[in-house]
Amino acid sequence: MTSLTPIVLRQDEFERFRALAYQAAGINLTEAKKQLVQSRLFKRLRHYGLSSFQEYLRLVDSEGENGNEMRYLINSLTTNKTDFFREPHHFRYISQTILPDMIDQAAHGRRARRIRVWHAGCSTGQEPYTNAMTIADTLRGQGMWDVRLLASDIDTDVLATAKEATYSAEQLEPVPAALKERYLKRVMGRMDQYQVTQDLRGMIAFRQINLNEDAWPIRADVRFDIIFCRNVVIYFDKPTQRKLFGRFQRLLVPGGYLFIGHSESLFGINDAFETVGGTIYRAPDETESVAR
Ligand SMILES: C[S@@+](CC[C@H](N)C(=O)[O-])C[C@H]1O[C@@H](n2cnc3c(N)ncnc32)[C@H](O)[C@@H]1O
Repeated sequence: MTSLTPIVLRQDEFERFRALAYQAAGINLTEAKKQLVQSRLFKRLRHYGLSSFQEYLRLVDSEGENGNEMRYLINSLTTNKTDFFREPHHFRYISQTILPDMIDQAAHGRRARRIRVWHAGCSTGQEPYTNAMTIADTLRGQGMWDVRLLASDIDTDVLATAKEATYSAEQLEPVPAALKERYLKRVMGRMDQYQVTQDLRGMIAFRQINLNEDAWPIRADVRFDIIFCRNVVIYFDKPTQRKLFGRFQRLLVPGGYLFIGHSESLFGINDAFETVGGTIYRAPDETESVAR
């Protein structure tokens, strides 16, 4: 029998969900998130016709850590808020500082005309598409550049939306008109829906990556010029953040850039990075000094 009156999540059940979210994704569910966990998972109880969170936990346990229900659980506990041109000063820094510098270096034969970017925790795609537009537009008229973005998230639902690359006129409001004109096409037969152009989509590979897994599916020889990991680590505790930023540091080229979210900081977490702007950091030139 299912009921429409929400079933109350007991403290011991909440503790179990907390432990599962932490073990699987490094997500630190504070006490304040109890109500949110209850309402999000109550939908699942109704879906299965279960009458307690205890029964639901048994279902999750029976399928194991790689089971479908575990995937559903993590997808429903993640917070996926994002926007096009969120924290716009990051994209201004890329178009006005990083790219002109790269263009100049390439012109003097000091670097290859190649850029590698990773968006770790990309949610529904607005962030990597904003960056792809910014980079493509800044490099217009600069000859051939090989630009590739990796965009990843733990949540398979948001990745499916990101790959579809289709957004409403309202979601696209922050995108400047000239960029909309160049990089978005109206979807025939769907009111107010626009899809990112094929060229831009072709620059990005979307992949599921759990930032708290020890083995990331990234080739050992790959180094990124830029890593974005914005508004992701706010859900992680300090030891988890320390480990993650150390790993990012090792994956960046010397002097590569790390962008984090507006309420995040490397203070007391990783002092090897140099601050070059608001929540913009630069990896040291000496990779030897990597903090472990
Ligand atoms: C609030 S969104 C931020 C999206 C985008 N970076 C931005 O700032 O607009 C946080 C994203 O981090 C993802 N996330 C949370 N834990 C993760 C983990 N352990 N590994 C990978 N992604 C994770 C969530 O699924 C979510 O899509």
